[in-house]
Amino acid sequence: MIIKKRPAWSLPHSQVTPESVFLNRRRFMTGALAATAALALPGYGAAGSLPVPGEMLKYKKMPDWSTDEGLTPYEDATSYNNFYEFGTDKGDPKRYASALKTAPWTVTVEGECSKGGEYALEDILKPHDYQERIYRLRCVEAWSMVVPWIGVPLADLLTQFEPTPRARYVYFETLFEPEQMRGQRSAFSTIDWPYREGLRMDEAMNELSFMAVGLYGKTLPNQNGGPMRLVVPWKYGFKSIKSIVKIRFQETRPKTTWELIAPSEYGFYANVNPEVDHPRWSQKRERRLPSGLFSVNWMDTQKFNGYGDQVAQLYRGMDLKRFF
Ligand code: MTE
Repeated sequence: MIIKKRPAWSLPHSQVTPESVFLNRRRFMTGALAATAALALPGYGAAGSLPVPGEMLKYKKMPDWSTDEGLTPYEDATSYNNFYEFGTDKGDPKRYASALKTAPWTVTVEGECSKGGEYALEDILKPHDYQERIYRLRCVEAWSMVVPWIGVPLADLLTQFEPTPRARYVYFETLFEPEQMRGQRSAFSTIDWPYREGLRMDEAMNELSFMAVGLYGKTLPNQNGGPMRLVVPWKYGFKSIKSIVKIRFQETRPKTTWELIAPSEYGFYANVNPEVDHPRWSQKRERRLPSGLFSVNWMDTQKFNGYGDQVAQLYRGMDLKRFF
């Protein structure tokens, strides 16, 4: 038997669909075939213009940045969501996010960079080819998914704005538009809108950090953060901010939404870590979706969500219990 040693996160795309998701294979294959066809076209990933909602994207598969764990079926990934701008029930985002207008979409870039300004989304995507990366997504609530994202490396997207050496952090903000986002109109919301997130610059420039504009070969559905959302796979899902309209480079650490709401429960770093429990529940295991009510699909949670080879060095010497 030939044993080929690869890191846990680096597995061939050809192994992506196990029997457990066989029933969804046809749907998956439709996407995969379209993607293969797209690869045959010249200029495969040139973004060119703003992706039209629901349209197939052209992209290059990135097996070295992908897991071969079974994909969470498209239906589950797009109907079991956290997007509090549309409500707190997992079904609310799909139910209500069609009210969000994703085109035209403007992104404001400001702070410690030479090329700040107000950009049409298509203009900041245009220089980049799209890639597909199949990442694990681990929510702080102890459920997880495996999602094939389409997008661009965050480092490539950010570098075009020429951050200055004073940029030690990057801050992101979601759209604030109560007329379109019913959760922002709710009198019961504990969130001080807009939803905010941030990363240290070295985290943002890490090869795994990704700005997604699609999933399963298609543009991002609104409930998943269309037209553009962050994906930081070694951190709890709340760091992966959706529907981004602002990017700011700054010298000081930004305050982030969940840290502002409950600083003793949600930290700035939010690295997936089975050794540091949430004050109200264990982080040692996770429910991989789809998961039945009576046959829960439990699995052990991995430190840094299994991406330690890529990111552990970012936190060398840090007490991860203190900087949770
Ligand atoms: N971004 C915004 N703007 N609002 C949110 O409520 N929820 C976060 C994150 N990004 C959230 C957000 C949480 S808690 C998770 S787990 C992920 O989105 C879920 O992403 P998904 O719905 O695509 O699975």
